Amino acid sequence: MSNLPGKRVVLGVCGGIAAYKALDLASQLVQAGATVDVIMTTAALEFIRPLSFEALTKRPVYSAVFERWTESGAGHVTLANEADALVMAPATANTLAKLAHGLADDMLSVTALAAVPRGVPLLVAPAMEQHMFAHPATQTNLATLHARGAWQVGPEHGRLASGLIGHGRLAAPQRILETLELALGAGGVLAGRHILVTAGATREAIDPIRMLTNRSTGKMGFAIARAAAQAGARVTLIATPGALRPVEGVALVPVESALQMLDAVRAHVAHADALVMAAAIADYRPAAVAEHKMKKSDNDLSLTLTRNPDILGTLDTPGVVRVGFAAETQDLEANARGKLARKRLDLIVANDARLAMGGDDNTVTLYYADGRVESLPTAPKDAIARVLIERVAALLVAREARD
Ligand code: CTP
Repeated sequence: MSNLPGKRVVLGVCGGIAAYKALDLASQLVQAGATVDVIMTTAALEFIRPLSFEALTKRPVYSAVFERWTESGAGHVTLANEADALVMAPATANTLAKLAHGLADDMLSVTALAAVPRGVPLLVAPAMEQHMFAHPATQTNLATLHARGAWQVGPEHGRLASGLIGHGRLAAPQRILETLELALGAGGVLAGRHILVTAGATREAIDPIRMLTNRSTGKMGFAIARAAAQAGARVTLIATPGALRPVEGVALVPVESALQMLDAVRAHVAHADALVMAAAIADYRPAAVAEHKMKKSDNDLSLTLTRNPDILGTLDTPGVVRVGFAAETQDLEANARGKLARKRLDLIVANDARLAMGGDDNTVTLYYADGRVESLPTAPKDAIARVLIERVAALLVAREARD
């Protein structure tokens, strides 16, 4: 789930070998529901053909400044007036210099000059040889653009067109897309807020190579972190190891055990406006962790387990909106209501653990401290995450009105 559907995105493609990767980006933007207008610089035309973009976006590709003057009243600033965001990918050293200095000698620079003062977010994804990127002129130009509020993603470290390994590769299309979602979400319902999210299954060590854990994958917590970031929040995600990619724009704090998670929550919650505990935390851990790999014998093995602290139950978090999850296999409502009260939550998200864990979809019911109940239809976890984030935003506003 993304905030891209229905958005008008101007994709500026500059002349670098990474220009071919902009085709994939254009395709992903279109698939995410955006309307994409591509502007190519003259140098970009040397690397790829406009027809490829036209086929992907189903829209004309722009390059010369004045060629479409007659098409609409505003001529070369039409795109700038209609754009919700401007993405330069790849952004070459030359185009960054033009943007920083306000030059307007081609369609791309004219559009940027006209769009940015309207508050249209500008995202640059630089790609160039590492020495060009490291040059003080390029760095100063980027600093100028940052100071004016521009967003940047990449470049990444890796193999460059020259064959050298260095810092200059275009960021992966998925990262560009996620950063664009952040740029579009700035000023959203959680703007200026700090949200602390936990995700994943804790791992409780038995010996150096074995552990006790559970089936949670962390998908719900990661989706919540992403939705919060897309709503303009500063997000810290305390998560256990797993197969999920880090979320763009989210500060990841890796932990393994419940005790480590408790320490991490304690360290970060003081700066948070809301705490969303989506992690599946082990209630017990082995009483002792063997120093070396335990060897089998012919006898049965017993493990003595000791209670882990209840993080939500123990921590006092004055002023913080508290959201918990109840993953149950029976008596969902009674268990959820019990946890809502015991853990002093503002909201608990109740779901059937057997359906929720691992899957992409979820069916949840929200129980509020004030007695309200809200059942959400079965939906992908990222759609549920967006609803939850709206509810958290509303709880924050309600709390402020009360205090
Ligand atoms: N939780 C927590 N600390 C724990 C266990 C759970 O903070 N040691 C949080 C979870 O992140 C979740 C909520 O409490 O938001 C409920 O978790 P759940 O495992 O369903 O509840 P438990 O407290 O473990 O209750 P029970 O064992 O009775 O199901």
